[in-house]
Amino acid sequence: MNYNKKSIEDIEVTGKRVLCRCDFNVPTKAGVITSDKRIVAALPTIEYLVKNGARVILCSHMGKPKGEWKPELSLKIVADRLSELLGQEVIMAADVAGEDAKAKAAALKNGQVMLLENTRYEKGETKNDAALSKAFADMADIFVNDAFGTAHRAHSSTAGVADYLPAVSGYLVQKEVSIMGKALANPERPFVAILGGAKVADKLNVINNLLEKVDTLIIGGGMAYTFAAAKGYAVGNSLLDASKIDYCKEMMAKAEAKGVKLLLPVDCVVADAFPNPIDGPVDVQTVAIDAIPANKEGLDIGENTAAIFAEAVKTAKTVVWNGPMGVFENPILAKGTIAMAQALADSDATTIVGGGDSAAACEQLGFADRITHISTGGGASLEFLEGLELPGIACLQDK
Ligand code: 3PG
Repeated sequence: MNYNKKSIEDIEVTGKRVLCRCDFNVPTKAGVITSDKRIVAALPTIEYLVKNGARVILCSHMGKPKGEWKPELSLKIVADRLSELLGQEVIMAADVAGEDAKAKAAALKNGQVMLLENTRYEKGETKNDAALSKAFADMADIFVNDAFGTAHRAHSSTAGVADYLPAVSGYLVQKEVSIMGKALANPERPFVAILGGAKVADKLNVINNLLEKVDTLIIGGGMAYTFAAAKGYAVGNSLLDASKIDYCKEMMAKAEAKGVKLLLPVDCVVADAFPNPIDGPVDVQTVAIDAIPANKEGLDIGENTAAIFAEAVKTAKTVVWNGPMGVFENPILAKGTIAMAQALADSDATTIVGGGDSAAACEQLGFADRITHISTGGGASLEFLEGLELPGIACLQDK
C-alpha cells in the first residue's frame, strides 16, 4: 500500500467547506469524558483548518449505537470539550447528515467549526452506504481523514465519502502512518516487536507479518500459553487455543528458518483462578513455564522472563509493542506489563506502542512522554502491523 498521501497542506482550504473525519470515540463514565487524548490528538489539524479560514465540519462515531439514536452516545460532550480546547464555539448539529446538519454546514463562515452527530446513529454508516456517503459529501468541498483509529473501517464517513470529494490526510493520520510505516518498511536495527494480549487468534497475521521484518519477536500475555503448549508443555488452566497449536509450531519453525529470535516466557505468575473482580485480591506464585501445576492458571510473565524481554529491548534500535503481558488491570498481575513499559521508557530506541491496552498501560504508568509514539488506534494499529491495507488511508489521494 502506498502511504505517501496528500495532506491538508497540499490542498487549498481557505473558504472551503472541509469535512474532517476525526476519531472522537473517547472513553466516558456517567456522561463525563475520562480521557480527552483523542480530542487533543485532533487539534493540530483542526487548528490548521481554522487558521487557514476553512469552514470546518467535523464528524466522528462514538461507541456502537448500530443505527439507533442513543442519547448517551451523543457527541455533544465532545463539542463542549473541543470548544474549551480550541477557545472558540463548536456548533453542534442536531443530526448526522440531515436537515439541521446541512443548514448549519451551509451557514458556516470561514474559520468556524461545527460537529455532526454520531455518524453511527445512521444505519448506513457501517455499511458504507453510498447514499449516506453522498449526503456527507454534499455538505462539503474537501474530505480530510484524520481518524487513524477508524482507518481500518470501510464506512461512509471514513472511506465512502472519498468517492465523491477530493480526499487528503490530516496531521494525525500523516504522523501515525509515517512513524509506523517507517518502522515497518525501513527500521533501524535491531528491530524488536513485542506482542501480548489474550488470544493468539487475534494476532495470527501480525505474528506472520512481523516475522518477515523483525530481528527479535517477543511473545507474552495469554497468547504465550498456546506457544508453550506447542513446545509440549502442560499449561494447566491457562488460556489455550488448542486449534492454534499447529499454527504456533509453524511460526516457531518460520522464525528459525528466517533467523529471527523468538523469545517466549521462561516463567510465569500463576493463581488458582482469574481474579474476580478483575482488580480484586489474588494469591500468586511464580513457576517455570514447563512446570505450571494442572490446577493453576498463568496470568502474567515471571520475573526472569521480564528480565530477558527487557534485555532484548535494551539492545534494540526500533521497538514496536502491542498487547499486555498479563492481567494488567490487577496490580498483582501487572508487573510484567509494567516491566515492558519501563523497558521501552528507558530505551533510546524508536519506541512505538500500538493503541489499546498497552497504550493505556504506558499512559497510566506515566511513561507516555518517554515513548516515541503511542498510536491513537487500537484495531487500526494492529491491522497496520498485519500489513493490511487500511481503507481510510487507501481512499486518500496519492502525492
Ligand atoms: C477504536 O476505539 O479503536 C476506534 O474508535 C474504532 O472503534 P470501533 O472498533 O468501534 O470501530
